Amino acid sequence: MPEILSQFPIKHLNTFHLDVSAEQFAECRTVNEIQSVIKKTSFRESQRLIIGEGSNILFSGDFGGFVLRPAIMGKEIISEERGSVRLQAGGGENCDELVEWAVNWGFGGIENLSLIPGSVGSSPIQNIGAYGMEVCTAIEKVLATDIDTGKKLIFEKESCGFGYRDSIFKRHWKGRCIITSVIFMLSKQPKLNISYQGVAELLESSPTKDIKAVRTAVIAIRKSKLPDPDLLGNAGSFFKNPVIPAGELETLQAQFPDIPSYPAPGGSRKIPAAWMIEQCGWKDRKHGRAGTYKHQPLVIVNHGGSSGREILELAQLISDEVENKFGIMLIPEVTIL
Ligand code: EPU
Repeated sequence: MPEILSQFPIKHLNTFHLDVSAEQFAECRTVNEIQSVIKKTSFRESQRLIIGEGSNILFSGDFGGFVLRPAIMGKEIISEERGSVRLQAGGGENCDELVEWAVNWGFGGIENLSLIPGSVGSSPIQNIGAYGMEVCTAIEKVLATDIDTGKKLIFEKESCGFGYRDSIFKRHWKGRCIITSVIFMLSKQPKLNISYQGVAELLESSPTKDIKAVRTAVIAIRKSKLPDPDLLGNAGSFFKNPVIPAGELETLQAQFPDIPSYPAPGGSRKIPAAWMIEQCGWKDRKHGRAGTYKHQPLVIVNHGGSSGREILELAQLISDEVENKFGIMLIPEVTIL
């Protein structure tokens, strides 16, 4: 049974670096430890939060409940077929370290996700994605523990309800299970995903054209556009890119002929929230000690000493202005507590 800590500071466990604490906190290194916390403590009855590296969370204040951190480590090839490998990774592993490891072994399927902050266990929850790839394409199974019963659960990919920054772990299973491991199916003869223009351009000038080169390109693009959370507190994109029906886009085009858009499922269109936010004058602008990032206004940053409330106020100001100008409501991508 892990130690249960009270009034535990969690500034190091949220990438906005907000100085907040958890009423109770436990870090579990095995599934057995998770099961003991579920059975033997007040976890089930408390307001609860399962935290990985806190890279997609905004705390509006101290967390008055029980924070459990699944820190199950390990990565292992559990089976191998002619063209692919099955890789099992503990939920507590760091996502980018896993990507680097896979790329170094020549196993493809997650290289475009290079440098995304966060833990492996959190990656299926919002189906992390970047540069033309979503993690769900490489996931075969998600292993978890049921909080109600303490029993082990296995979710096949098909039952995970994956969508754009979405899964059943954000809906039916929200707060009801703890992801302990993820099983990925990776390719030994990877086909490169260069659907994102910037990646294709960088690859063109690269002497080698393999998954290592894709990782190098993605890292270069991310570093040029996105702030390093270790240096400037942030949680990546604060809002999702809204998806609207094609007809609605036509109406908007009459007023905003330059509005960019990308195809989305079912003939709908995805509008870059960053563009609308910039049009509202919110690029590289401050609100108290919070602000929007200079190269990517979809990212809200903590310039140092900001509170969660201040960041929330800024998010509200931005979404109000976008709604007034474009009639589109921005939905936060970050979990607000
Ligand atoms: N744009 C602007 N001004 C800017 C930046 C972007 O107008 O300063 C417009 C441009 O039209 C640009 C478009 O926004 O073409 C898209 O920008 P970008 O390619 O940087 O991506 P994004 O749509 O803003 C999404 C993800 C990112 C992911 C990138 C790359 C969401 C909510 N965000 O951002 O994911 O890294 O694509 O694939 O889908 C995250 O989820 O935390 C995250 C960072």
